[in-house]
Amino acid sequence: MHLLETHNLKKSFGGVHAVDGVSLSFEKGKITGLVGPNGSGKTTVMNILSGFVPLDSGTITILDEELSHVYSWDMPELGITRTFQNIRVFEQMTILDNLLIVLTRRHPVTAMFERHTQAHVTQAEEILEKLGLSHQKNNLAVNLSYGQRKLLEIGRALLMKSDVYLFDEPYAGLFPEMVKLVTNVMQELRAAGKTVVLIEHNMSIIRALCDTVIVMDAGKVLAVGTPDHVLSDREVISAYLGE
Ligand SMILES: Nc1ncnc2c1ncn2[C@@H]1O[C@H](COP(=O)(O)OP(=O)(O)O)[C@@H](O)[C@H]1O
Ligand SMILES: [Mg+2]
Repeated sequence: MHLLETHNLKKSFGGVHAVDGVSLSFEKGKITGLVGPNGSGKTTVMNILSGFVPLDSGTITILDEELSHVYSWDMPELGITRTFQNIRVFEQMTILDNLLIVLTRRHPVTAMFERHTQAHVTQAEEILEKLGLSHQKNNLAVNLSYGQRKLLEIGRALLMKSDVYLFDEPYAGLFPEMVKLVTNVMQELRAAGKTVVLIEHNMSIIRALCDTVIVMDAGKVLAVGTPDHVLSDREVISAYLGE
């Protein structure tokens, strides 16, 4: 079953065709890897799907509804959540508060003054436990390491309770023990029947985790298939090696 599809997506920046006629399907209960050389358009696809960049043309089908644009503020209603390649956390708030503001879905400033229910705190603490951040919960986010910030951002995405999770390079710069935590998160989401899209450069992670891999090159889809099939494709190998 396809929960999320794109049809002939196009997006240019000046003269650069960042996404140049991309049609894709992302299946429910599967992890789909989105790979390709730097600048091939992966993040732009995610930006389009999450409403951070408007389309030039094409459509997106979500839950059988065909849309010619997605607005970022509609994401919760559409059941889509994402993380960013460049981490976005509220640095001057505690780790726990960074999670609690998601649960109330209010503006960060008003949410800070809101009283949270014990149920919210319990949910946030469960996520911190899962991500190995419990001991840091009262620390300001500014004091976290790069990897811990990435984990916090993933934690926030998990609290959104979406149908579709878009992860833009969640593994980049993580220590091995953190890699394991993120892999557990991905597997749990799949087991829960979620649609997971994962941008990742490490092919052993892609092979171990993905049901389907989409390879992009220069704004176009170069190959789609199982990891074993796609990653042994000559065209894919030469796109990566730049031959
Ligand atoms: N906001 C933007 N303004 C101008 N050019 C952009 C913007 N976002 C992406 N690009 C360009 O679009 C192309 C694809 O970028 P991106 O989607 O970030 O690739 P990837 O994530 O695969 O590395 C690149 O040439 C990049 O420089
Ligand atoms: Mg990118």
